[in-house]
Amino acid sequence: MGSPGKLVIIFLLLFLTITTAKKPFKFDYESFNKTYPAPDTLQFTEDTAVSQGALQITPDTSNSLETYRQNKSGRVVFQTPFKLWEGNVNSTAGKIASFNTSFGVNIYRVNNTSPGEGFAFIIAPDLNIPAQSYGQYLGLTNASTDGNWTNHLIAIELDTVRQEFDPDDNHMGLNINSIKSNKVVSLASQGIIIAPPKALNYTVWIQYNGTQKVIKVYMALQGKPMPKVPVLNESLNIGWYLNQYSYFGFSASTGNLIQLNCVLRWDLTVEILPEDNDRTWLKIGLVTGTSGLALLLVAAVGFYYFLHKGRPVNDPRIMGALRSLPGTPREFSFKDLRRATNNFDEKLKLGQGGFGIVYKGVLAKENNMEIAVKKFSRENIQGKDDFLAELTIINRLRHKHLVRLVGWCHKNGMLLLVYDYMPNGSLDNHLFGKQDKILSWDRRYKIISGVASAINYLHNEYDQKVVHRDLKASNIMLDSNYNARLGDFGLARALENEKTSYADIGGIPGTLGYIAPECFHTGKATRESDVYGFGAVVLEVVCGERPWTKIAGFQCVVDWVWMLHRENRIFEAVDERLGGDFNTEEAERLILLGLACSHPISGERPKPQTIVQIISGSVPPPYIPPFKPAFVWPVMEPTGDSSMTNTHDTTPMSSSYYGVSQESNTGYSDLYTV
Ligand SMILES: *[C@@H]1O[C@H](CO)[C@@H](O)[C@H](O)[C@H]1NC(C)=O
Ligand SMILES: *[C@@H]1O[C@H](CO)[C@@H](O)[C@H](O)[C@H]1NC(C)=O
Ligand SMILES: *[C@@H]1O[C@H](CO)[C@@H](O)[C@H](O)[C@H]1NC(C)=O
Ligand SMILES: *[C@@H]1O[C@H](CO)[C@@H](O)[C@H](O)[C@H]1NC(C)=O
Ligand SMILES: *[C@@H]1O[C@H](CO)[C@@H](O)[C@H](O)[C@H]1NC(C)=O
Ligand SMILES: *[C@@H]1O[C@H](CO)[C@@H](O)[C@H](O)[C@H]1NC(C)=O
Ligand SMILES: *[C@@H]1O[C@H](CO)[C@@H](O)[C@H](O)[C@H]1NC(C)=O
Ligand SMILES: *[C@@H]1O[C@H](CO)[C@@H](O)[C@H](O)[C@H]1NC(C)=O
Ligand SMILES: *[C@@H]1O[C@H](CO)[C@@H](O)[C@H](O)[C@H]1NC(C)=O
Ligand SMILES: *[C@@H]1O[C@H](CO)[C@@H](O)[C@H](O)[C@H]1NC(C)=O
Ligand SMILES: *[C@@H]1O[C@H](CO)[C@@H](O)[C@H](O)[C@H]1NC(C)=O
Repeated sequence: MGSPGKLVIIFLLLFLTITTAKKPFKFDYESFNKTYPAPDTLQFTEDTAVSQGALQITPDTSNSLETYRQNKSGRVVFQTPFKLWEGNVNSTAGKIASFNTSFGVNIYRVNNTSPGEGFAFIIAPDLNIPAQSYGQYLGLTNASTDGNWTNHLIAIELDTVRQEFDPDDNHMGLNINSIKSNKVVSLASQGIIIAPPKALNYTVWIQYNGTQKVIKVYMALQGKPMPKVPVLNESLNIGWYLNQYSYFGFSASTGNLIQLNCVLRWDLTVEILPEDNDRTWLKIGLVTGTSGLALLLVAAVGFYYFLHKGRPVNDPRIMGALRSLPGTPREFSFKDLRRATNNFDEKLKLGQGGFGIVYKGVLAKENNMEIAVKKFSRENIQGKDDFLAELTIINRLRHKHLVRLVGWCHKNGMLLLVYDYMPNGSLDNHLFGKQDKILSWDRRYKIISGVASAINYLHNEYDQKVVHRDLKASNIMLDSNYNARLGDFGLARALENEKTSYADIGGIPGTLGYIAPECFHTGKATRESDVYGFGAVVLEVVCGERPWTKIAGFQCVVDWVWMLHRENRIFEAVDERLGGDFNTEEAERLILLGLACSHPISGERPKPQTIVQIISGSVPPPYIPPFKPAFVWPVMEPTGDSSMTNTHDTTPMSSSYYGVSQESNTGYSDLYTV
């Protein structure tokens, strides 16, 4: 009885692993209109639009003013970036993703004038189109950035204007970080005129094999099959040039001469590079979708049924295992949740946040699985249609250091979310609550390491970058092994209308020390402000003091620790209650890291990848100046990477976690920002 049951699960897991690891990401948009693909599937820069059944990469004829169409550039990209390489891209151990794409394009001369300037398929780090990238720059670069390797850009151009470095005004080029092509091919000899007087539709196929590291581009009139011979066939290691995560899309420009740059259809297939388990599981959800998964479940259940010669499937262990498969948050019936919480018994209340109350529950039907049920009050979600949409993002977040969302229930405008129950409550409770045993140093280190890995996941590893926004000890839960699990994130974006601004909540105790100084000016949570909050948590865990505690004449813990650092006395910062029972090397590492993350200037704070490396000991902690640098506002715009932060982070709000400690019941654990 037991072993066939296990067999089913093993079979199922194997099946899932095999089928999902290999399945590439794929879309195929056969046309474009305002509702298809769904809004937000593509990202548009200014002056680009969906119009007349096509993506208009530069303004189309609906802008009748000719001068409006001159000197324009635009980009349209698919909403999420793709992981394109992994490991050392020069060694065979490294891995580069293969991809295929094809699209229909119509490059149209208006009123039979000469066309200009050009169109390109791009793989780019972001949507940030450089200023002055019109004319010959095709929306790729501009006079000052052209050729700079920090562009991390590869493009296949269809150029309709001849520059001095071009062979003619009708060519295809492979462009790397520059509009000066690495390889150009005149198209006239191939019988192709990109923008003939009487407009034609073409299909372009681009195939990239990451194993061979060869790119091939084919082009033919729409409706014709893909030619045997590529127009362009070049060796190319995209790992040398592109960011690890890059966007696919289109770019185009006009100059004094104009043309319409219309994409009529687009398909894309990208190989999914293997990732850690969490990511693989995540892909199951993304790639196979719920229906695929349901199919697999049916298959597995059928198999089990077959083994048992017709006995119905009701083994609670198996159903429990199936139900708890990662990647499958599911819908609960209201009845079951009401029963699980003993009709929302006041005695089972775990905490209360701004949007609702959290109860402990037990699912009798599922092996007495313990859950935490967050019940939102009706008013909070009424008329908030996108609230449920928001759930789909949280649904997909999967990491061993995030509290797992088990499922939801939506009934008569009431919403309930079901989470894994965390028997050990919040970190806050363990540091400051009534405990018979103080958290040991090893546990503290492990907790910080877990939180760092969760933040790295949210910021860098999940497809849509997510900012937590509300990092603090009461939002960090501990599982039965004292592993950190970051609680509640991403919930309340749709609810933020009644937000409180950072300026308003600045004076509220229990919050101040976690909020980065720039937030009071920008009102915006960023990855950098998450890192600031993380730094506050690190110092809190090491020192056993809340961030806003006044100590030794200092206004807050950071200032005090900074002084100890200056005077070479950092070990005095370590929680006295440990009685000196801690690893000095680790303590030094964490204190310096905590200070680095508390840097008043956001751009100076370490990035999550570095934080993870520092904690693992593979990278030394950063240099910390003896005096805390001053906060300056406005800051100089940081260069490079961080400037893309604002554009591409989805920054869902965080609401309070279900396990808010008693003392946070005053509601300050729910902070909402712009
Ligand atoms: C948009 O395109 C989709 C897919 O081709 C089609 O089903 C839908 O009816 C179109 N909507 C409009 C408003 O044209
Ligand atoms: C377009 O740019 C060129 C050169 O940069 C300039 O001479 C011309 O006046 C501009 N045209 C418009 C309509 O802005
Ligand atoms: C890979 O090889 C290229 C070309 O030889 C070189 O420029 C680059 O620095 C190498 N990258 C790494 C990570 O070794
Ligand atoms: C791309 O297309 C080629 C030829 O049709 C095919 O062999 C290859 O598997 C495709 N690659 C991907 C990633 O789909
Ligand atoms: C084409 O040229 C005609 C005559 O010069 C003008 O009236 C018309 O607006 C132009 N059409 C467009 C789309 O620019
Ligand atoms: C080129 O683009 C960059 C980034 O947008 C911008 O900072 C710079 O001023 C632009 N250079 C020119 C010459 O427009
Ligand atoms: C390339 O761009 C980087 C960052 O924008 C800049 O610091 C560097 O000076 C540029 N290099 C050249 C040669 O322009
Ligand atoms: C090009 O495609 C568009 C949109 O699908 C269509 O309306 C048009 O007739 C096509 N033109 C040619 C020459 O095939
Ligand atoms: C890439 O090329 C290798 C070697 O020729 C081949 O085995 C592999 O199937 C190709 N991959 C794709 C995705 O086309
Ligand atoms: C691409 O070029 C390579 C040599 O660089 C050649 O061996 C191969 O046959 C070409 N592929 C096609 C499809 O023409
Ligand atoms: C933490 O969880 C373990 C395992 O469930 C339990 O034995 C222990 O009592 C819990 N500790 C606290 C402080 O809740």
